[in-house]
Amino acid sequence: MEKLSNTCYIIHGDSIDIVPKLPEKKFSLVYSDPPYGISYDKWDVLHDNKNKSLLVDGKKRKRTGKPIRGWSKEDEKISKQYRQWVFSWVKHLPRLCVPASAILIHNSRRLMHSFILSAERELLLQDILAYIKPGSHFQAFRPFPDDQPNIRIGNLSPRWEPILVFRTKFKGTNKSIIQQYGTGGMNVEEFKNFTGSYRNMIEACSVKVKQHPTQKDVETTECLIRTFSPEKSRVLDPFMGSGTTGIAALKSGRVFVGIEKNKKHYNTAKSRLLEFIHNEQRRLW
Ligand SMILES: C[S@@+](CC[C@H](N)C(=O)[O-])C[C@H]1O[C@@H](n2cnc3c(N)ncnc32)[C@H](O)[C@@H]1O
Repeated sequence: MEKLSNTCYIIHGDSIDIVPKLPEKKFSLVYSDPPYGISYDKWDVLHDNKNKSLLVDGKKRKRTGKPIRGWSKEDEKISKQYRQWVFSWVKHLPRLCVPASAILIHNSRRLMHSFILSAERELLLQDILAYIKPGSHFQAFRPFPDDQPNIRIGNLSPRWEPILVFRTKFKGTNKSIIQQYGTGGMNVEEFKNFTGSYRNMIEACSVKVKQHPTQKDVETTECLIRTFSPEKSRVLDPFMGSGTTGIAALKSGRVFVGIEKNKKHYNTAKSRLLEFIHNEQRRLW
């Protein structure tokens, strides 16, 4: 573990091994954008589907992509193995968190059902927020541009993604939990200040300097951290990528613990966080 400041700690390694070893009852929020299991990038391939049309490893194939020739028996492995992978780390969260902690998870429209089915064995699903992306490419292509120009293959323009809102289980009343741990409620005014309403959707800001292929924006992450965690509490991101959650947590006055497996992304997170910490110190002094 590297200590970057009194409120910022990061770990280079595999969360599947590290999460079970983290200390008990330290966190009040887990905010993460984990792999979606939709084969977007190498780190997002969490299955051993051998369907040739998915283009797995091998000379003429690649690991990423969507099934391109219909359904194969092998495709069933994608969601099944994603559920197993999700449970391998989610099952530890109740032990790491205080009761009624919020667990906020960015996910995909395609496999969020698998995430929910797996996570609800240990967590309570409370809501699904719509994360409205600043832009979205309409990529459905025309198989017969001359004969049937209106017929396209693929998806409609993907304007939103789900953010799954879970709670760790708790005993007692909501009021008693809020008084004891500060968890279980939401600071709805923080949410309204940013979004302009109490509706369960949030408009993402565009990322100005992109340092990770699936980088999220600091602004919405900060709003959600302020809404769903008590002041000065600890926030965990087991899949921190370029460290966006960390910067948002520090900006909100929370303590951050982040984990990242890929060395390049880990170093990006480290330098972004150090830059933020140094700028803050300069601003205060
Ligand atoms: C969707 S990205 C997170 C991007 C992040 N929200 C940002 O703004 O930069 C998921 C990250 O999880 C990392 N990852 C995947 N499997 C992991 C594991 N088992 N342990 C730790 N990190 C992992 C990937 O390398 C990737 O950087």
